[in-house]
Amino acid sequence: MAKKALLTIEGRDPIELPILSGSTGPDVIDVSKLTAQGYFTYDPGFVSTASCDSAITYIDGDAGTLLHRGYPIEQLAENSDFLEMCYLLLYGELPTADEKAQFDYTISHHTMVHEQIRVFFNGFRRDAHPMAIMIGVVGALSAFYHDSLDIADERHRNVSAMRLIAKMPTLAAMCYKYSLGQPFMYPRNDLNYAENFLYMMFGVPCETYEVNPIIARAMDRIFMLHADHEQNASTSTVRLAGSTGANPFACIASGIAALWGPSHGGANEAVLNMLDEIGDVSRVSEFVKRAKDKDDPFRLMGFGHRVYKNYDPRARVMKQTCDEVLDQLGVNNDPQLQLAMELEKIALEDPYFVEKKLYPNVDFYSGIILKAIGIPVSMFTVMFATGRTPGWIAHWNEMISGSYKIGRPRQLYTGENQRDFKPMKDR
Ligand code: CMC
Repeated sequence: MAKKALLTIEGRDPIELPILSGSTGPDVIDVSKLTAQGYFTYDPGFVSTASCDSAITYIDGDAGTLLHRGYPIEQLAENSDFLEMCYLLLYGELPTADEKAQFDYTISHHTMVHEQIRVFFNGFRRDAHPMAIMIGVVGALSAFYHDSLDIADERHRNVSAMRLIAKMPTLAAMCYKYSLGQPFMYPRNDLNYAENFLYMMFGVPCETYEVNPIIARAMDRIFMLHADHEQNASTSTVRLAGSTGANPFACIASGIAALWGPSHGGANEAVLNMLDEIGDVSRVSEFVKRAKDKDDPFRLMGFGHRVYKNYDPRARVMKQTCDEVLDQLGVNNDPQLQLAMELEKIALEDPYFVEKKLYPNVDFYSGIILKAIGIPVSMFTVMFATGRTPGWIAHWNEMISGSYKIGRPRQLYTGENQRDFKPMKDR
């Protein structure tokens, strides 16, 4: 028998609310018909609200589990690569060898951007934050690919998905090259996704660039570990924008904007800025003390998570990659990296962090790896955006291909009641 919840409100008959069960995870109380009874639910920050149903990613925050289409992130990180993960997120199954080869081919043949996109960069200052540029140029793609903007057409949606996944690294590398005043590097189809990105970032036309396989593998892992995280702030933003019927390039630009904040994707950059501010191992305890002080707004960046109250499973894989990369590149003597390790050690043992279950999250270690492999700090959140693009598109596509309503939350109004306009002379 279908389960129901009874909502009792003083002076009224109880209101029956259906209870829905997913394939796993907690049941949810369906409040969608409550408005017809004259009530809204109130849930700032959506801490208790499921905004949609989705078959893409499952997180159990208490157990520290993250599954993409049922596969644990640890197994994917160990055995798969970023493009295979993109395929899995988009189409629901792991590809066969032929499907994977076809997918890789298609992505690598969409990596170039329209030549006129290059002109957009000239409108930005050389010191512009690359996330500001990304929001602009990804949104601008809407004006270049009119042949894939019909969101009701599955083929159009698919072509847009390929274009976005393929062009993100090209645009990301262009941001960096523009900041340096170096020539943009055209993509190379003989390289894999991560290698091609590194080539466009660090190569120059006047000499040969050899991709370091350790760095390429670490980069691919960073993309993989960021690929999706169910209804996080930026993905919810993409869904909300998409629910209006906006085109996919505009929706992904809105996701990039939401990701930029330091509470979300901006945290990896904030971690390195915080390490700069701390400056020396001798000052770690002073900053840990500040993080615990209720009257001080300072927080330890890269610690804590809305959903994971045990351990972020991505952080576990990222830490392993971090150790490998630091070891193999022989940079574990870097003072800033040593400072990060000391901070991790102190916070993991401190009762405040232990009791509140504030563990290092994915951004703590990704920031350290990105620094070690030479990605400039201002580009860190762009790396997150590149990795998260398949997740954003998979969610957008899942929504558009099913039945959905425009996202339109309500509010608890706390302003003035109706009053009459006062002429200026009487105010
Ligand atoms: N340093 C010090 N105290 C913290 C921290 C921190 N990093 N994070 C949370 N707390 C405390 C907070 O003060 C609160 O204490 P109390 O209960 O005494 O008021 C308690 O822990 C719960 O915090 P909250 O802000 O209610 O938790 P939330 O779920 O709303 O926030 C968070 C989650 C990630 C925004 C927060 O932990 C944070 O600001 N962390 C630092 C930023 C960061 O690393 N963000 C990246 C998240 S992972 C990547 C991603 O998915 O985007």
